[in-house]
Amino acid sequence: MPEEPIAVTVPAPQPSTEDPVAVTTHVAEPADPEIARVLLLYSGGLDTSVMLKWIQDQYGAEVVALTVDLGQPGEDLDVVREKALRLGAIDCHVVDAREEFARDYIVPAIKANAIYGLGYPLFTALGRPLIAKLAVEAARSSGCDTIAHGCTGKGNDQVRIEATIATLAPELRVIAPVRTWKMGRDEEIAYARQHGIPVKGGTEFAPYSIDDNLWGRSSEGRWIEDLDHAPDDDVFQLVTRPELAPDEPEVVVVGFSQGVPVSLNGTQLELVDLLEQVAALGARHGVGIVDHIEDRIVGLKVRDIYEVPAAAILLPAHAELEKLVGTIHQNQFKPTLDQKWAYLVYAGLWYEPLRGDLDAYMDTVNARVTGEIGVKLFKGSARVVTRSSPFAVYDASLATFAESGGLFSQESAPGFIELWSLQSRMAWRVHQENG
Ligand code: ARG
Repeated sequence: MPEEPIAVTVPAPQPSTEDPVAVTTHVAEPADPEIARVLLLYSGGLDTSVMLKWIQDQYGAEVVALTVDLGQPGEDLDVVREKALRLGAIDCHVVDAREEFARDYIVPAIKANAIYGLGYPLFTALGRPLIAKLAVEAARSSGCDTIAHGCTGKGNDQVRIEATIATLAPELRVIAPVRTWKMGRDEEIAYARQHGIPVKGGTEFAPYSIDDNLWGRSSEGRWIEDLDHAPDDDVFQLVTRPELAPDEPEVVVVGFSQGVPVSLNGTQLELVDLLEQVAALGARHGVGIVDHIEDRIVGLKVRDIYEVPAAAILLPAHAELEKLVGTIHQNQFKPTLDQKWAYLVYAGLWYEPLRGDLDAYMDTVNARVTGEIGVKLFKGSARVVTRSSPFAVYDASLATFAESGGLFSQESAPGFIELWSLQSRMAWRVHQENG
């Protein structure tokens, strides 16, 4: 039976008589004569390759391509560059932004224990504002008037990229051809064939839609859209399936300095190296598979399969150390701010001042998040097993079951309990007596 879509319509917007705030972006109409040179965010995949040609055809515009390396595995970016030039780009910039991504985006996320919707460590959401910032820089330096990206009209990425461009460079236009060209995958393949654009792999069925970087990988589409379909094995291209992971556990000791991961098993490492090595360890032990239902900012509820081996080790390790050095009051308060931070970043508001305000708080708390956490990896689980920190608000001689003197006076406990429970006891009695 064909299913009726749920009728949730909104009235068309009425023209306003008031002046709009003068911070507008212009989404160009096809054949807009003002488009002369376009900076295209280019991945080398089908959509953006078709786009590279289509922009030249549609607007008679020149195209400058930009490919950003955020640590996505398995891509030879020289090949991507060659492909862009062969398809007619007048130039193709390849930017290695791994270090900046790790330092300025992943580290703040670690300090904020950033997880959206109980499972998503935000790798895509963190990458987009950086990609958009680099696009603005490249557009300006190469004299482009427009930035083009390959996002669809249904996702969060369009919001993240366009919000960033509109903030940093309101003078630049943005076009998102996938939102307007109305080509399906088959038409795109036909267009590609017609224009000599190489199409990788088989074309009979659509591949998963993948996005990945140093901090994780997502798969969407195909059976993933069927909520009742358990993951097919072939979706896991990064993390070993737990049932195939080694039979021997492995403990990894992560050292943190002021909230920043700095060492593995006692060896100091550069951030990008450290992230890659933690990811490899987690991937080997089946750690970091998340089958996630997610509330997108554009109103859709969708399912994603995530593989996040580095985040699945570093985030719990960081949270454990933070808990050890914080007081009960700090530890109860921070998660509320962490959640707000994650939501702002998820929702594309990287440049919202509140995010900066929150970062100041995160930095203050993290000033004491220094020490080491041991995490045991075994067939899909990552469990904290050891902790140490010079700032631990912990005194074994107080916490022990053995007799302790000193600061903790057990004789004071009855008096504490009497006053601590006073108001609750009174309320209980009043409610008993008066119904
Ligand atoms: N659902 C995640 C997000 O919104 C991942 C999206 C992956 N993006 C993509 N273009 N495939 O951040």
